[in-house]
Amino acid sequence: MTDFLQLAHDRYSVRGFDGCDIPEEDINKIIEAGIAAPTGVNFQPIKIWEFRSPEMREKLLACTKMKFIEPAKVIFAVGSDPTKAWKRPFDEKNFGDVDAAIVITHMMLEIHELGYGSTWIGHFDPAALAEIVPETADYSMIGLLPVSGRAMEPSERHAKRKSPEELVTVL
Ligand SMILES: Cc1cc2nc3c(=O)[nH]c(=O)nc-3n(C[C@H](O)[C@H](O)[C@H](O)COP(=O)(O)O)c2cc1C
Repeated sequence: MTDFLQLAHDRYSVRGFDGCDIPEEDINKIIEAGIAAPTGVNFQPIKIWEFRSPEMREKLLACTKMKFIEPAKVIFAVGSDPTKAWKRPFDEKNFGDVDAAIVITHMMLEIHELGYGSTWIGHFDPAALAEIVPETADYSMIGLLPVSGRAMEPSERHAKRKSPEELVTVL
């Protein structure tokens, strides 16, 4: 049984990849972890695009300055359809982005659990992405998730976490 707290601490953003192949079985597990994520009213307004072919990965690379993702043989893009997401009736807040964020988080943790590395890439141009995958224009695109072998240790930033005293208010 996985020690969840250990996994949560151990996962870190990987920005150096070995470019290894990712077996189909592992890709399926990563997707399964994403689908297992909770979403508002279980509406599951999310969509996952899997960039596998060298041609599509190269096109995707042009949408971001984060060139370190280049060696990754699999890169996921995750978004949510705002028209299908739960809206809180009090203030009409749309929870689609929140849903997609939870999906990505589940996927990142599974990627680490399987022994690979990833980094949530939020710094990409969604308009450029829509040029290559027109369907994404109808989604709120939240992140790219490269999957590859870890070829770096955690950054200094990883260790910097605020304390419970700073973050928690007990009422
Ligand atoms: C919403 C979001 C967007 C992020 N976008 C990027 C990004 O575009 N490029 C990048 O290198 N890291 C990105 N990160 C990774 C964060 O920088 C990283 O999670 C943070 O510094 C903590 O480090 P750790 O993941 O190693 O614990 C993003 C993380 C989140 C949650």
